[in-house]
Amino acid sequence: MEKTRVAIVGMGTVGTGVAKLLLDHGDRTARHAGRVLWLEKAVVADLSKPRTIDLPAGVLTDRVEDVIENPEIKVVAQLIGGLEPARTITLKLLEAGKDIVTANKALLAEHGPELFDKARSLGRSIAFEAAVAGGIPIIANISQCFSANQVQSLLGILNGTSNFILSQMDESGADYETALQKAQQLGYAEADPTMDVDGSDAAQKLAILAHLSFGSWINWREIPKVGINTFHATDMQYAKQLGYRIKLVASATLINDQLELVVAPTLVKKGRPLAEVRGAYNAITVVGDAVGDIFFHGQGAGQMPTASAVVADMIDTAVGRTDITFRRLELWSQRDSGIALRATSLLSSRYYMRFCASDKPGVLAEITGILGRNQISIASVIQHEPTTVESALGTAANQVPIVIMTHQAPEGAAQKAVEQIQQLETVHGPSIRMRVLEK
Ligand code: HSE
Repeated sequence: MEKTRVAIVGMGTVGTGVAKLLLDHGDRTARHAGRVLWLEKAVVADLSKPRTIDLPAGVLTDRVEDVIENPEIKVVAQLIGGLEPARTITLKLLEAGKDIVTANKALLAEHGPELFDKARSLGRSIAFEAAVAGGIPIIANISQCFSANQVQSLLGILNGTSNFILSQMDESGADYETALQKAQQLGYAEADPTMDVDGSDAAQKLAILAHLSFGSWINWREIPKVGINTFHATDMQYAKQLGYRIKLVASATLINDQLELVVAPTLVKKGRPLAEVRGAYNAITVVGDAVGDIFFHGQGAGQMPTASAVVADMIDTAVGRTDITFRRLELWSQRDSGIALRATSLLSSRYYMRFCASDKPGVLAEITGILGRNQISIASVIQHEPTTVESALGTAANQVPIVIMTHQAPEGAAQKAVEQIQQLETVHGPSIRMRVLEK
């Protein structure tokens, strides 16, 4: 059988999973590719580091030149995280005539135009299914299966680490730090987990999906984002009482030829599919004008789900499918759709708000008065007599949390109202405001 020689650059969690699939299931890969994907080299930074996989003699190397200078190697899974040296190595591999498969969404979100231009000018391709939502084949679906549609909106849970942490806190009452450590041990988190929990990772993925779906070039840093490290665990309990779960939701909506993009912790109604996404799972609802809405659900992080997407891309590249799609899509080319980002102040949502207020006459009236003057209508209010929930929030003896659910309101008005409420002498400590997803 014909052989396509391949290499892996970066043998971390995902690289090791890719090597396992290529070596332990070569027959399966050969059946799908009609050729053997032969692992010629696996490049690591440190040869002495203990590994969980035994590679055939001569495969492991700490010299990326062993790949660059070997013209027999055609396809390279470039799995180094971060921006440098990942960018420089990717450019060198392209210049050496290799087709690239990558899981590095930060690299694409930051240097997509440069890398894709370089690949196009050299007649090479870059495949990146694993860069968004791990094992869910969202890139192939949006770029191929939805091509008869104008995508109208995307709504997703795109960061497995955040979802794992939120699920642990919700299901077992784990504290934030313990849940984060567990996510790191299980290989879900980025090398710097700040990117996971502050919403950056989800914003990078959303920028890639928005580019594929709407043709717009949006710098991921311009996407309004809030992470899961902003609210207190007791907000989860209030959300539960109200019939919601808190999820880190990334959304893209086309409104009058402008794109509304947001990443933020959001209350999602229990029973709605997105609310029931647990652990490191990701989910995405895509709405197309012809197809209607489609829901994708699967493991968004972790070794084998991500390796599954990488190896599928390696097969597609080896058989020539990637090349056809890559040339047709003209990703990050000069062909920008001109769809601009919609101003944050124009966003509109229902809101969950929590204030810590003095427990004395007239305070609730002051708060609701400010909301009313900002044209924000209240849907419900919770103020319990001080209990364990209140003491968990650390409120002083004469203070109570007040939780307000609003009807639909403009973001600008909601932000202004919360700022004004915070300035009241009777309101203490930071206030919380989260979007609410109703349907
Ligand atoms: N750290 C990412 C996540 C996995 O937790 O979703 C890779 O994208």
